[in-house]
Amino acid sequence: MRTLPFTLKLPFGDRPLEWDNYIVRTLSSMQGQYFDQAAYSSLLAADDQLLYEVYEILVPKVEGELLHGVSIVHPGKVGNEYFMTKGHFHDVLETGEVYYCMRGTGMMVMETPEGDSQVLGMSAGEVLYVPPRWAHRSVNTNATEDLVMFFIYPGNAGHNYGTIEQKGFRKLVVEQDGQPTIIDNPRWQNAS
Ligand code: F6R
Ligand code: ZN
Repeated sequence: MRTLPFTLKLPFGDRPLEWDNYIVRTLSSMQGQYFDQAAYSSLLAADDQLLYEVYEILVPKVEGELLHGVSIVHPGKVGNEYFMTKGHFHDVLETGEVYYCMRGTGMMVMETPEGDSQVLGMSAGEVLYVPPRWAHRSVNTNATEDLVMFFIYPGNAGHNYGTIEQKGFRKLVVEQDGQPTIIDNPRWQNAS
């Protein structure tokens, strides 16, 4: 079936007025992802709080179509590590993705299967390009504001979460001396 042209209302700096699919991710969906496991367990015991939301505009998940929507990562930390998305490779590895930061400040943690690694800052008004082969995770480094981003990627990309769930990313973004700081993930090497 062919998609007909359509428009999407994005009130500046916030979620779309209409969407097809709404995803919420709470602390319990991030088992094993945060470095400070003790901090994770005690936060989770207190409250399975909301980490991020995704509003998707669905088009057919086939080559040529472009999936898009808005993600909102809320402010907060687990221990010293900021709230973040699960992160993923695309099933079709040779797939790029564009993010437009509408509100807030954060970092995109990225890496390739070959071991390249990059963490880029993002702030409102900036476009960030994730090239083919790069896994990506959004991190909200702002203490009080949401990180709101519009994203767009090929319809046939699919998502591979398993690799990141097992290995994590090579880099972590943590708060040190009150500043967002990129460090090596000490647990990455232990992964299979
Ligand atoms: C889609 C994409 C974003 C993320 C969203 C949530 O390919 O990269 O829309 O899906 O930021 O992150 P994940 O999917 O890693 O939970
Ligand atoms: Zn993606």
